[in-house]
Amino acid sequence: MNSSHALNFNIKPGGKLRGSLRVPGDKSISHRSIMFGSLAEGITQVTGFLEGDDALATLNSFRQMGVKIEGPDNGRVTIHGVGMQGLTAPKEPLDVGNSGTSMRLLCGLLAGQGFEVTLVGDSSLSDRPMRRVTAPLKEMGANIETTEAGTAPLVIHPVDHLQGIDYLMPVASAQVKSCLLLAGLYAKGQTSTTEPAPTRDHTERMMSGFGYNIKREGSKATLSGNGRFAACNLDIPADISSAAFFLVGATIAKGSDLILEHVGINPTRIGVINILREMGADIEVLNKRDAGGEPVADLHVRSSKLKGIKIPADQVPLAIDEFPAIFIAAACAEGETILTGAEELRVKESDRIQVMADGLIALGIDAKPTPDGMIIQGGQIQGGTVDSHGDHRIAMSFAMAALRASGVVTVTDCANVNTSFPGFVPLAAGVGLDISSTS
Ligand code: S3P
Repeated sequence: MNSSHALNFNIKPGGKLRGSLRVPGDKSISHRSIMFGSLAEGITQVTGFLEGDDALATLNSFRQMGVKIEGPDNGRVTIHGVGMQGLTAPKEPLDVGNSGTSMRLLCGLLAGQGFEVTLVGDSSLSDRPMRRVTAPLKEMGANIETTEAGTAPLVIHPVDHLQGIDYLMPVASAQVKSCLLLAGLYAKGQTSTTEPAPTRDHTERMMSGFGYNIKREGSKATLSGNGRFAACNLDIPADISSAAFFLVGATIAKGSDLILEHVGINPTRIGVINILREMGADIEVLNKRDAGGEPVADLHVRSSKLKGIKIPADQVPLAIDEFPAIFIAAACAEGETILTGAEELRVKESDRIQVMADGLIALGIDAKPTPDGMIIQGGQIQGGTVDSHGDHRIAMSFAMAALRASGVVTVTDCANVNTSFPGFVPLAAGVGLDISSTS
């Protein structure tokens, strides 16, 4: 699961993206389907599950805690729920690899169990901040050890009980919100989270879907402990975060015309569509429908000219995972694009501000990193070599940049693309990207 420096992408310049495709299932929803399915009473059937390393890390963690899970088989997973009190102590530490979502959400869910458990991750995850979850969990009475730097491994010790809190979140983070709501399931009294800006709400939606009483008033979500989940069936939409590479690729490559099928368009995730449209992208949202409590649609994207913009502050949390792709769009736009208020990008799978700026500069683009964003002047992308630093989204973004490059683009350290997008290379090649991988 650890990143191997060996896998490189080689992408020939030019080409266009045409046809239709369905990208793999939503990562955030896939994680949560395993968590709630495991805690439910009864059997939960999941379709469209993301068979990437991150979601599989969550699946394997629950297997290690005694949950019988069949699959995944072509996106089908059957979870034999054990009920709220049915998890058992794993024999070994739970290794969640590169997955921040697994670590932060599990940390909350496990804080109130009656057993000790250790969470470990790969080198990237072991550098990422965990105090944002362990500090409020401590306020609830949890006993969790971190390193001195506030990072993993996390050792979660059993406690007598957790107490609900009313938590004003200092960062707009769905992982922090979800962590505390999951801990709240095992706490006495009420647990509330109030977020400073809207973040993805899959946890709240799925809790309701599994029949749990969760109240939402504006930016505040509240639940009481001691409830139950009833098993249900879930159809997981395609991940808009994976679709984003194709939205950008088809927009920047002349002559492109692409349909992305069954994409999740939850309003807390569509910042990328809003931002690209403001830059001049031609994206149509077709056949809007509902898939198990989540809105989905087919996205039709055709190439178009882009202009630089000042990215609206309110769109930042709604597009937080899509900035690597949006930066490529900005590099192809006429004029200047300015992003501010996105300091969270520095603590993702890599420092996405620095690593993207380095990569853009390596390809001849004038990109200036700032503490909380970037200033990019649109220009001609050159061929060259870019180090993705083992960050899946950076690797896929620079693969798309080649569509507008003047020479071959090589992206190194790409193995972690499998964390969120298994099959990226053949799928992208199938719609027209001239990509191959070498190890
Ligand atoms: C996620 C929340 C986001 C996002 C991550 C998935 C989730 O992280 O970047 O890829 O599933 O809750 P933050 O909550 O840290 O912003």
